[in-house]
Amino acid sequence: MADWGEVARTACDVHHASQHQDELADVLVLVADLAPTVIVEIGCDRGGTLYAWRQVCQRVYGITSADNSHAAGGSGGPLDSHGATVQVGDSHDPATFDWLTGQLDSDPVDVLVLDGDHTYDGVSQDFTMYAPLVRPGGLVLLHDIAVTNDPRAQVYRFWPELVERWPDTVEICSAQHTPYGWGVLRWT
Ligand SMILES: C[S@@+](CC[C@H](N)C(=O)[O-])C[C@H]1O[C@@H](n2cnc3c(N)ncnc32)[C@H](O)[C@@H]1O
Repeated sequence: MADWGEVARTACDVHHASQHQDELADVLVLVADLAPTVIVEIGCDRGGTLYAWRQVCQRVYGITSADNSHAAGGSGGPLDSHGATVQVGDSHDPATFDWLTGQLDSDPVDVLVLDGDHTYDGVSQDFTMYAPLVRPGGLVLLHDIAVTNDPRAQVYRFWPELVERWPDTVEICSAQHTPYGWGVLRWT
């Protein structure tokens, strides 16, 4: 079995993942448990999490904005896809959605990672558009459910609505430091 703690450390320390290492390690255990064949990530920044997903799954798709500035929620650095197939564009653009469905060719998504537009409207639109591509029993992961100090980051407002509607959810929020937090929802 892979050492997910080491994968998380490499993703953060070497490949610039915008993550807390302990939270990423815990979420990797859940993702690996599914033995996923298709993972989709919205919001890739420098590709640190793409690196992590690629250690679990051969077939990874990324969708990320051409604008990776701090204002857009990115770190400003260049993207390394780590072997994922990446579309640079706005996740809310129907053409981007069409690109993904073309790539999937009717195959379901095992794991959907939402880490792009963190506004309330942005993350809820990503969920509404892309979660139906996930197979029953697959996972939808929302990053930054615990962040409340950045006025643009509003995932913490959307996540409780999902907890009310879906019976099977888990929160991965570090006890070691102020968490970014992952919300994990099993799609039905
Ligand atoms: C927080 S970063 C992603 C961090 C990355 N998942 C990681 O952990 O290393 C958010 C990313 O989402 C991108 N983004 C913001 N709005 C977007 C949109 N509407 N469509 C696609 N990507 C978007 C930003 O450019 C940025 O690269």
